[in-house]
Parts: sequence; structure tokens; C-alpha cells
Amino acid sequence: MNKILLSLAAAVMLVACTQKQATSPREELTRYAEKQLTFALESLTAPMSANNKLVAPRTVEDSTLQLVPTRDWTSGFFAGELRMMYQLTKDTVWKQKAIQFTELLEQEKNNGKTHDMGFKMFCSYGRAYEITKNPHYRDVLLQSARTLITRYNPQVGCIRSWDHNADKWDFPVIIDNMMNLELLFWASRETCDTIFRDIAVSHALKTMENHFRPDMSSYHVVDYDPETGEVEGRTTHQGYSPESAWSRGQAWALYGYTMVYRETNDVRFLQQAEKIAGYIINHPRLPADKVAYWDFDAPEMPNEPRDASAAAIMASALYELAEYSNSREVYLKCANDMFESLASAAYLAAPSTNFGFLLKHSTGSKAHESEVDVPLVYADYYFLESFIRKYNACF
Ligand code: GLY
Repeated sequence: MNKILLSLAAAVMLVACTQKQATSPREELTRYAEKQLTFALESLTAPMSANNKLVAPRTVEDSTLQLVPTRDWTSGFFAGELRMMYQLTKDTVWKQKAIQFTELLEQEKNNGKTHDMGFKMFCSYGRAYEITKNPHYRDVLLQSARTLITRYNPQVGCIRSWDHNADKWDFPVIIDNMMNLELLFWASRETCDTIFRDIAVSHALKTMENHFRPDMSSYHVVDYDPETGEVEGRTTHQGYSPESAWSRGQAWALYGYTMVYRETNDVRFLQQAEKIAGYIINHPRLPADKVAYWDFDAPEMPNEPRDASAAAIMASALYELAEYSNSREVYLKCANDMFESLASAAYLAAPSTNFGFLLKHSTGSKAHESEVDVPLVYADYYFLESFIRKYNACF
């Protein structure tokens, strides 16, 4: 009898020890990200010391790490990733790094030549403010919001996206611009000044009116007459054709309207996000692994490049939309499918490769044969965000 009890006790101890040693998928991915981001920081050191205008990694081209200056639309994502590593690990080393890379971007608060203010400043300073409550960061963010709204045209009801290609369009507004509205909602909350929020809501409503086709896919660019506010044309810049559905554009639309619903509680925005989600999830050319090709209408599928960045943005947006919608289970399943694909060896880089980027197989602009099938910093940012959203209950 004693022998039996002893064997039982030994078996229980063995199981307990095994359980203690086993790591959860969440812990494994956190450890992987820590290792990979540490490698990214090491990879940055030499090129950043050689050129002090470069502040963050963007991609890899011709086997060379590409870094960007503050004005690049992607300059804020790396700081945001470092902040998310702090959120994941609670290790203050990541907090210090997030602060260090955030503070390199301050001058952008006065750059009125771009609509990308939210991408640059909210993904960096916005998130750093959350963890530090440093009042200077608040000032930087408010100045960024004030600069962004100088691009608003009340006739059009939108914030102008680009100043380039002035021969092609008069007042271009791109679907990506929805992402910059988050900074404005935040600024109104902080200041109790409704101007920022009013502009954001106007932009979201106008974009809802003019950017979407009957099937709920989004145009990339809508060009307005700045005097009358009339639509002059609809086209693309990074998509396959003016009438095609550029995948990352659909992702920005989904994320953008989900976020605007969170900020306004206006059911029109929830319905818009749900319709966009329906377009994506039910699309016959969404591949089995749910990582979209770079454009839903690209002609050579399956021999077209994927865009892991679009999948990461979609997954993150769907995790949030699932919280608000009656279709929770559908959105969670699709977000999980996307996330699991991205977290598999097919997309996740082997440790200490890929210059420290987490994901492979993103596409920046196939239309320009630029950044095709490469790592992209914003793919990693939204992948980490979707990771945090997936395991939100654990944090
Ligand atoms: N906002 C630029 C892009 O998505 O490529």
C-alpha cells in the first residue's frame, strides 16, 4: 500500500514539475519577441551612430536594414513596439528604451506637411504618455494635434492627406488617414476642446460617404475640389488599379471605423466597421491562412506577394471589434486564424534573423515595386498589438 502511495506521490510531483516548466504560447511568444527586439536594438546601433538623423527601423531591402528620419510616416512604430514590450514584460529596461526612441521624434509635432501625425506621434508619444504620465509628452501630443488640424478644410470636411503629386490631384484624402483621428479624439478628451473631435467626426463621416463602394471595399484615394468640397475623382496610389481593393487600405478602414466607434459610441461607425469586416472575412480571395495578398484584386494569385502587415492590422482591429459587436464569435475566430498564421513559422522570422523584425512577407507598395515581400515595422507593431489584445485577459 505504501509503495502504491509513494508511486502516486511521485507521479503527482512529476506532473506538477512538468506543468511548472511548460511555457504557455503567450509566454513563448513574449520570450521570442524579447529576444528578437533585443537583436533589433543591436542591429540598429551601428547605422544609427553613423547617421544621427536616422531614428527608427522601417524595413530590409537588398539585405540591408533601412532606417528612417523622423519625418517618415513609419518613424513612431518602433518606439510603440518597445512600449508594448514593457506592457508585456513589465521589465523597466523596455520602458527606458521606449522613452529613448520616443523622445527622438519630438520635432515632428510642428511638421504640418503631413497627415501622418497620428502614426508618428500617437503610436510613440501617445503610448509613452500612458505609461509615464510625463506632462511634457502631453504637451507634445497636443501640439501635434494642433498641427494636424491645420490640414483640415471645412469645405471638404476632411484633413488633407498628401501635398505631393500636385499635378495629379487637388485635395487627396486616403483611407489610411482614418488612423490619424485617434490623436484628435484624445486631444479633445484632454482639453475639453471639441474642435479636435468635431474635425475627426467630420472626416470619418465624409470618408464613409465617399470612399466606399457598394460592396464595402474602400478606394485608396479620393480627390476633392478644395473650393467646393465636391469629389473630383477616385483612384489608387498603392493598389493594383483604381477599382481594386488594396488590402492594407481595407485594413486601415476596418481599424479606423472600429476606433472611431470606440471614441464616439455612434452606432453608424460600428455598422460601418461591421460591413467592412464582412467584406474582408467573406472575400472569396482571402487565402485559407487568412493572410491577404497585397491586393484583393491582384491578377496573378496565388503567385502574388502576401501582405502580413494588412493581416496584422486586420487581426488587431477584429479583436477590438469583437468586443463591441453581436458577431463577436465570427470576428474572434477570424482574428485568431490571422494571428495563428502570423505567429507560425511561415511568417515569424527565426530568432536573431531578419534584423530583429518579427514578421516576414509584408508588402509596402507593389504598385511601385517597392518593399515587396519584406519585413515592415508597422506589421510588427500591429502584430504585437493584436498579441496584447488576444491575451488581454492576462494583462
Ligand atoms: N500609410 C501608408 C501605407 O499604408 O502604406
